[in-house]
Amino acid sequence: MIEMVNVKKDYRLNGQNIPVLNDVNLRIDDGEFCAIIGRSGCGKTTLLNILGFMDSLTSGLYKFDGLDVSRTTAKEAAGFRQNKTGYIFQSFNLINGLTALENVAMPLGYAGVAKKHRTERAFELLMRVGLEQKIHSPVQKLSGGEQQRVAIARALAASPRVVLADEPTGNLDEENRDIVMNLLSDIHNAGMTIIMVTHDMELTRYAGRVLRMREGAIFE
Ligand SMILES: Nc1ncnc2c1ncn2[C@@H]1O[C@H](COP(=O)(O)OP(=O)(O)O)[C@@H](O)[C@H]1O
Ligand SMILES: [Mg+2]
Repeated sequence: MIEMVNVKKDYRLNGQNIPVLNDVNLRIDDGEFCAIIGRSGCGKTTLLNILGFMDSLTSGLYKFDGLDVSRTTAKEAAGFRQNKTGYIFQSFNLINGLTALENVAMPLGYAGVAKKHRTERAFELLMRVGLEQKIHSPVQKLSGGEQQRVAIARALAASPRVVLADEPTGNLDEENRDIVMNLLSDIHNAGMTIIMVTHDMELTRYAGRVLRMREGAIFE
């Protein structure tokens, strides 16, 4: 499903080139739960952002479902982001002031799903993450663990091809870490492809495959 060959990424900062990804080679198949582990600052978020069409690569090849997406226009990238990926962030990134239900329904609005169906689907997903009691709570009133479960429901809303998770338990205590990781396991067991980046060795036991990231490259 995903293939990267010799991917490089430089950032430009104050006229200087900062190399972050030097030579990433990667193949991830449909249905895998793949953890990418590496130290803070090694480029994990950068890689995940490229995988999720949120950032461009400097050189190399990126194929998604057999399609060369190395050089997409901003518009194409936005379309891929919407249709192909669900993203889970360390800091949840929900919209405060909106309810859990509204947060989960939002990506479906962008996808053109009618309001009634959006609400139904959002409710189903919130049930799936065990939050049917909280659907009308403004998300800022929920605990961190609950907020991340809303974020997982939101990531699944538009039926993505892959769920990308960036340190999904980084802001959670141990109990909520286990709840969130077990949920991701369930979702994987139901057939979803998951790519998670983390610096936390503990989390790799949930993954079917562990890749290591060092000096801007990936090692099996
Ligand atoms: N927008 C940016 N501009 C310049 N440098 C950046 C930018 N984003 C990240 N970096 C640098 O790239 C390196 C990798 O960052 P990141 O991908 O966030 O690593 P990780 O997620 O593994 O902690 C770091 O040295 C970081 O400072
Ligand atoms: Mg990071």
